[in-house]
Amino acid sequence: MALRVAVLASGTGSNLQAILEKLHGQGLVEVVAVASDKPGARALERAADAGVEARVFERGDYADREARDAAIGDWLEGSGVELVVLAGYMQLLSASFIERFRNRIVNVHPALLPSFPGLDAIGQAFRHGVRVSGVTVHFVDAGVDTGPIILQEAIELAYTRPIEAFEERVHEVEHELLPKAIELIAKGAVRIDTENPRLVRIEEG
Ligand code: GRF
Repeated sequence: MALRVAVLASGTGSNLQAILEKLHGQGLVEVVAVASDKPGARALERAADAGVEARVFERGDYADREARDAAIGDWLEGSGVELVVLAGYMQLLSASFIERFRNRIVNVHPALLPSFPGLDAIGQAFRHGVRVSGVTVHFVDAGVDTGPIILQEAIELAYTRPIEAFEERVHEVEHELLPKAIELIAKGAVRIDTENPRLVRIEEG
């Protein structure tokens, strides 16, 4: 049985596209829902092109974040979603949503956590002048980009590299690493250590 996945995205959705192209409908993973907070998000078009049901949950349509997240959660649960993937979702999730999908939400972050959490991680790393940055895929907990790390890949920054080239490389790596993490989860190869819940064990067959 394929793992039923939902993707939450606010922007261009290139990570959603990578998931659709690399995993969707090939047996292991089925993207069954795409949710966005932005009515014009390109991610919604990508979902429609792939025949995946997509819905918009605008902040203004709900009393508060809690109510909006409850509506998203109801929709996802109703669609039998087993894994929620944040792919450029620019909203904080309520504690109750995180609890509802405990250890079943993953996020892709464009830096090597715990360095440069939060917004504009690529710019933060570039301006800091680090020589190595990268991409992290992690489980989502109640903090901002603090959850247990599933996969990371490093990228070296050459002295002369303009930020645009660095950004491009980060996105290329994201488009490999996020589908890889989802594939491992779908195969049942990813486990949170029972004694130390910060540690994620990967058991590749
Ligand atoms: C990615 O860089 C991701 O790491 C960050 O937001 C960006 C989303 O890009 N959280 P896209 O919408 O998938 O193209």
